[in-house]
Amino acid sequence: MGLRSVLVAGVALFGSLTHAASSFSPARPPAIPLAVKGPYLNSWLHVGSDGGNGGLLYGEWPSFWNSQNTGWAGFIRVDGSTYNWMGAPSGGVATVDQTDFSYTSTRSIFIMNVDNKVEMNITFLTPVTPNDLRRQSLVFSYLEVAVTSLDGASHDVQLYADVSAEWASGDLNAVITWEYNTADGVAYHQFQRQDQEEITESNQQANWGTWFWSTSDEDNLSYQSGADSDVRGAFISNGVLPNTADTNYRAVNSDWPVFGFANDLGSVGSEAVSTLYSIGMTQGGAISLLGEGADLTTYPALWNDYFDNDIDAMTFFYTDYSESTTLATELDNKVATDSIAAAGQNYLTLTSLSVRQTFGALQFTGTDSDPLVFLKEISSNSDIQTVDVIFPAIPLILYTNPDILNYLLKPLFLNQENGHYPNTNAIHDLGTFPLAKGYPDGTDEPQPLEECGNMIIMVLAYAQRTNDDAYLTQHYPILKQWAGYLVDEALIPADQISTDDFAGSLANQTNLALKGIIGLRAMAEIAERTGNADDAQSFGDTATSYISQWQGFGVNSAADPPHATLSYNDPDSHGLLYNLYANSLLGFGAEFVPQSVYDMQSNFYPTQALDYGVPLDTRHTYTKTDWMLWCASIASVETRDKFLQLIAGWIDSTPTNMALTDLYDAVTGNYPDGLAFTARPVAGGHFSILALPS
Ligand SMILES: *[C@@H]1O[C@H](CO)[C@@H](O)[C@H](O)[C@H]1NC(C)=O
Ligand SMILES: *[C@@H]1O[C@H](CO)[C@@H](O)[C@H](O)[C@H]1NC(C)=O
Ligand SMILES: *[C@@H]1O[C@H](CO)[C@@H](O)[C@H](O)[C@H]1NC(C)=O
Repeated sequence: MGLRSVLVAGVALFGSLTHAASSFSPARPPAIPLAVKGPYLNSWLHVGSDGGNGGLLYGEWPSFWNSQNTGWAGFIRVDGSTYNWMGAPSGGVATVDQTDFSYTSTRSIFIMNVDNKVEMNITFLTPVTPNDLRRQSLVFSYLEVAVTSLDGASHDVQLYADVSAEWASGDLNAVITWEYNTADGVAYHQFQRQDQEEITESNQQANWGTWFWSTSDEDNLSYQSGADSDVRGAFISNGVLPNTADTNYRAVNSDWPVFGFANDLGSVGSEAVSTLYSIGMTQGGAISLLGEGADLTTYPALWNDYFDNDIDAMTFFYTDYSESTTLATELDNKVATDSIAAAGQNYLTLTSLSVRQTFGALQFTGTDSDPLVFLKEISSNSDIQTVDVIFPAIPLILYTNPDILNYLLKPLFLNQENGHYPNTNAIHDLGTFPLAKGYPDGTDEPQPLEECGNMIIMVLAYAQRTNDDAYLTQHYPILKQWAGYLVDEALIPADQISTDDFAGSLANQTNLALKGIIGLRAMAEIAERTGNADDAQSFGDTATSYISQWQGFGVNSAADPPHATLSYNDPDSHGLLYNLYANSLLGFGAEFVPQSVYDMQSNFYPTQALDYGVPLDTRHTYTKTDWMLWCASIASVETRDKFLQLIAGWIDSTPTNMALTDLYDAVTGNYPDGLAFTARPVAGGHFSILALPS
């Protein structure tokens, strides 16, 4: 053993003596969701070994999905000694000792041991209420800290938490204004950019809106706004804040303004003493869309329809904690019970990590009677309403509330049915979030076959689950137009990109053709449901003819084992045939695509498995979690469980350190070169098994 090894061993031993390692259940995810309720309230703790700190709440700053800090600091003072429990503030204070982390669909829970004297239970709860739009419309999240004695003795405890102005602007040079106030028993720091620039972003964060950091207004509460070192320093020195407001409004990075609360919990014994905080934002106008009329329409954030003003919205959220926890527990339990019953713990490890991430990409707008939901693609680029990003996300939407799919498709129909898009195929996206100005010149990213298939499949999936055939009638002309495109282009796909655009373009993509053909079969059912019998016959006949020809073009039946190809006339190529999932999602089953195709792929995938998954196709070793789950959900139990075992193992050990990526290298478990996807809503696709019709 050389000197270097001795030193490393010494450090490791020292580390293990001072801090027991935290346990993680059900897994140690690449990043931990802290407050993830919309594209702009999107704060995570980086975990993965490649830059994260291993999943401890202290020692690094929580950060926005795009990596900039969302300053969030916590201290606890026990019998006169102060410890840091969140964030990475300077000041040389000792840290608490994290002993456990666990997550559910809506909660991230940290357990801290403070010097063997008290235990902290720190719960980040982001409500997800797909069937309660009033609550879903609130872009707010909770933080609850419960403290109990660990050693049987009572301890004198003060608790501190702050947020920085970084939450309110991605431009650190922007000037922030703030004030402290109380309303309806809630104490709050309100802060915002002085220069409100509606419908614009800096570094992916909104340039407009008002932020609220709130807690209960009690005698034991003290507060302060001011420079980070002053406010945190006051608590560290005194265990209390001076109840003063800094009125020198300034840039985010100018003596870093922070907004602090301190609570004197008094003497804490075996009974838990809890403090509740909430963080969130309100906006008036939220999204501009080129839809009805010749000009952009700005849609209000949906909360405006339910509340008179932002203070009412904020206090409602804060005081709604009891009902929110009940609803959150219902959702947590539903996802847990259904995931376990369907496919076991490995599946739940993935699904429960995907709920907040998916809903966190959605912006709810409009009114209760006419809601529109906008989606931000996140990280691959900032497109708004990307059709082939909505498409992979729909399993979670269909599983929780299919109406939300209608609200997501509405902006796309408004844009195209009002004549703002010249091409006969379906549009790819509506622009760059939050400005949905469409492509009146038809220059969107060209994925014509992909999006025609996606739109028709999604529309039918919604109508089947809601029996909303009037919806099909309403959109019939444009759906028929897109189906016409599929008749012309689906069987022999021209050289083009698919949704996996990063993999490059290719002619005759087997999987893409299959999507188009299933889209035609879907159009036959749409025609039937709307009383267009001749169209139903014609689209149905074409689909039947195409699917039998497709097997001739796209299957290498001489291979051992046989498999679908990546592209026609390239017999050794192959890939994930994930579009076959749509055939099952729509209930067409073996009556349309023969069971032999399902069996063939199910037998083939395990032969291609690498350490962390089955590659997307023969061009690269990277893979995608959403598409693997689409394949897994329609495979044999053995093959499905193999996929789930590889993915759950990857989650627990990946070096990636940002919010769950859907794209990674199946050999290294890391990001592929130059493709660090993060926080994308396609994670909704992990609910593929639970979205299938029973
Ligand atoms: C921590 O608190 C949360 C929320 O009240 C609760 O669900 C969880 O069971 C608690 N965990 C522990 C270990 O006390
Ligand atoms: C507030 O402080 C008083 C005195 O220390 C204590 O009795 C009381 O329990 C505290 N209230 C809360 C909510 O911590
Ligand atoms: C696509 O496949 C068809 C059917 O095998 C073939 O006729 C055509 O040449 C192929 N196109 C290209 C560009 O390879």
